[in-house]
Amino acid sequence: MSSILSIENLSKNYGKVLAVDNISLKIEEGICFGLLGPNGAGKTTTIEMMEGILKPTTGRALFRGKPIGPHFHQRVGIQFQSTALQDFITVEETLKLFSALYSTHRDSEEVIEICSLGDILKRDNRKLSGGQRQRLLLALAIVNDPEVVFLDEPTTGLDPQARRNFWSLIEKIKKEGKTVLLTTHYMEEAEILCDEVAIMDQGHIVARDVPKKLLAENFDGVIVKLPWKKNNQLPDGAVQVDDYIEIHSMDIDATLHHLIHHSIHLDGLTIHAPNLEDLFLKLTGSSLRA
Ligand SMILES: Nc1ncnc2c1ncn2[C@@H]1O[C@H](COP(=O)(O)OP(=O)(O)OP(=O)(O)O)[C@@H](O)[C@H]1O
Ligand SMILES: [Mg+2]
Repeated sequence: MSSILSIENLSKNYGKVLAVDNISLKIEEGICFGLLGPNGAGKTTTIEMMEGILKPTTGRALFRGKPIGPHFHQRVGIQFQSTALQDFITVEETLKLFSALYSTHRDSEEVIEICSLGDILKRDNRKLSGGQRQRLLLALAIVNDPEVVFLDEPTTGLDPQARRNFWSLIEKIKKEGKTVLLTTHYMEEAEILCDEVAIMDQGHIVARDVPKKLLAENFDGVIVKLPWKKNNQLPDGAVQVDDYIEIHSMDIDATLHHLIHHSIHLDGLTIHAPNLEDLFLKLTGSSLRA
C-alpha cells in the first residue's frame, strides 16, 4: 500500500519553544492512525502542519507523495481541537452552510445518518451538548466526502458513554475506507480505534507501531497496582507512580504472597494487562496525567 500522508524531518519552533522536533512519519491509506501524547506533546502542531494550516519551521508534509497543493482542502476534512460554531443557526443550517463551501459534497442524508444528527437537526448550535457538538463537528469534517479525515482530540471532555458513541461513528468512517488521523490523550481510545499509533512526548516520537505489537514488545506478564498511601514501604521490584505503586508481575500468586508476607494492605489492589498508558510511563518515565 502507498502512503497517503507523510512528513519528513518536520520541526516547528514558536520562538524559543521547540514544539515539534524533527519527526518523520508515513501513513498508509485506509488506516486509522493515532497521534498520542500528553498535553503540550506537540500533537496539534504536528497535525496542523500535515493539514497545511501551519507552516513548518523545517521539513515538509506530503499528500500522496507530493507537497500539499491548492486543491488539498477539497480532499481532506478537518475537525479542529477547538472550533467556534455560528450562533443562532441550527444544526441543519450549519451543515448546509459548510456543504456549500465545497465543489464536491456527499449526500446530506448520509452525513446526518453517519453522525446520528437526525434528532437534533432543528436545534440551535448554542443548545448542543458536548457529545452532540462533537458529532456535528465530525459531520462538518466529512461533508466534502474527504479522502483523509483529521480529528484533533475529538472526544476530550465527553462522558464515557458519549465517547463510546463517538468511537462507533469513527468506525463507520473507517469502514468506508477513509484514512483517519486522530489525536488523543486517551490511550484506551487509541487501542480500540487505531491500526497504528505514534506516541509523542515533548515534540518527539517515542514509539510508533501497531498498538498490540508495541505492547507485546515492551511487556511480559501483568501489572499489579496498589494505592500508595496505605503502604509505607515499597515492596521489592515496585515503582511509585502518582498515588500508586506498581509491580510488573510474571506470577500473580507469588506477587500476592510476597505482599502479604510483608504485611502490605491489599485494599484497592488491581491487576491489569499492560496498556498504552503503561507503555507511555515506561518510555518517558512520567505518567500521562503528570
Ligand atoms: N501559537 C503558539 N505559540 C507559542 N507556543 C505554542 C503555540 N502553539 C503551541 N505552542 C506550544 O507548543 C507546544 C506543543 O503544543 P501543541 O498544541 O502542539 O500540543 P498538544 O500535544 O496538541 O497538546 P494538547 O493535548 O494540550 O492539545 C506546547 O508547549 C505549547 O505551549
Ligand atoms: Mg492539541
